[in-house]
Amino acid sequence: MNPNPALEFRRLAPDLLPGLTAFFESMIANKDDEFFHPHPFTAENAVELCGYAGKDLYLVAVCADEVLAYGLLRGWDEGYAIPSLGIAVHPAARGTGLGTAFMRYLHAAAANRGAKSIRLKVYPHNSIAKSLYEKLGYRPAGETDGQVLYTLTLR
Ligand SMILES: CC(C)(COP(=O)(O)OP(=O)(O)OC[C@H]1O[C@@H](n2cnc3c(N)ncnc32)[C@H](O)[C@@H]1OP(=O)(O)O)[C@@H](O)C(=O)NCCC(=O)NCCS
Repeated sequence: MNPNPALEFRRLAPDLLPGLTAFFESMIANKDDEFFHPHPFTAENAVELCGYAGKDLYLVAVCADEVLAYGLLRGWDEGYAIPSLGIAVHPAARGTGLGTAFMRYLHAAAANRGAKSIRLKVYPHNSIAKSLYEKLGYRPAGETDGQVLYTLTLR
């Protein structure tokens, strides 16, 4: 391994399985799955996601083998034109601008796929995430399942 690792944004792949499994464990220990639950954060799901090769995008920020953020853009597999975005940053890596940078990467990845806009859902009391989304230009567009639906028009 390179003794001087750098932060990288990349798609999930089999070599990231230990890092993703550890990331999911840290999210559960921090009770982040109360705010963010696109799927169960199990070891079985980590295996599936690291081997997934469909149209949806499961992306991470990594440094060496450590996963520092996890994001997804999904809906393409089901035939939707507008992807749904989800994001979580490792509890120890928050408040340093990684969430903002990773969100912009997710936006560029969606635009690269031809998406014109993005949607996401957030709990009304998740004020940190709401402030991040609003800073990035997301606007509320209704309510669904007790969460606020936000949309962003991509350039
Ligand atoms: C929401 C989340 C992704 C933000 O990640 P992050 O790396 O801390 O984000 P950043 O450091 O880029 O900060 C982005 C913005 O979030 C807000 N923010 C971050 N930390 C904050 C804190 N401790 N208190 C208040 N606002 C905060 C600020 O608006 C900040 O903007 P600023 O840099 O202009 O002040 C992260 O808190 C997280 O993973 N939360 C748990 C999972 C979750 O809720 N996901 C969203 C589900 S909808």
